Amino acid sequence: MSEEINLAKKAAGDKAASLVESGMLVGLGTGSTAYWAIKKIGERVADGLKIKAVATSKESEDLARNWNIPIIPFSDVEVLDLDIDGADEIDPNFNLIKGGGGALLREKIIAAKSKQMIVVADESKSVDTLGKFPLPVEVVPFGIEWTIAHLKERCQSVTLRQKEKKHYVTDNGNYILDCDFYPINHPKTLHRELNNIPGVVENGLFIDLCTKVIIGE
Ligand code: 5RP
Repeated sequence: MSEEINLAKKAAGDKAASLVESGMLVGLGTGSTAYWAIKKIGERVADGLKIKAVATSKESEDLARNWNIPIIPFSDVEVLDLDIDGADEIDPNFNLIKGGGGALLREKIIAAKSKQMIVVADESKSVDTLGKFPLPVEVVPFGIEWTIAHLKERCQSVTLRQKEKKHYVTDNGNYILDCDFYPINHPKTLHRELNNIPGVVENGLFIDLCTKVIIGE
């Protein structure tokens, strides 16, 4: 990642963190942009900001704990005041592709439980039409060949995500299929169709969840 992009991510993360207020229950996103928001929130906690938080991944939870941000179990949450997360693509209607970092399932559960979802990104994430970034689809390992066959009927290509020469495993013990659906002209319909395929746990389309986008420069 270039220094310029990293600075843009930091600017977006810092700005979102400045919107957190004492007393809030906050969702902490995952990825290299959410990292900066979590870091800044950690600095503000050290300066006296009083919040509680839940994390969208084990990675972000570890980060938050390192910076002494109080983490509570998700089962204790009724509603979150604010969720701050990154995105892989953002369209003009604030529909998103997420899951490049593999955390899409917890990210979506937490976004859906939040009054506001602020997306932080650099400008490369803004697109007219979703789908150039392959859509991550979280699937259960059982019957995966069958799930892949179903997906292949609907898109150009399906790739089983790998990490260190092994299948990538999510925090929930599932696999990720990266699918080329470009151009995604009807994200809402595709979202519904994908989640109707047996074996699909969730897909990386975030529809009507994001309330604000902060693009760093
Ligand atoms: C993780 C995600 C991330 O938010 C997304 O991949 C963007 O990451 P980054 O801020 O590193 O570009 O969805 O599952």
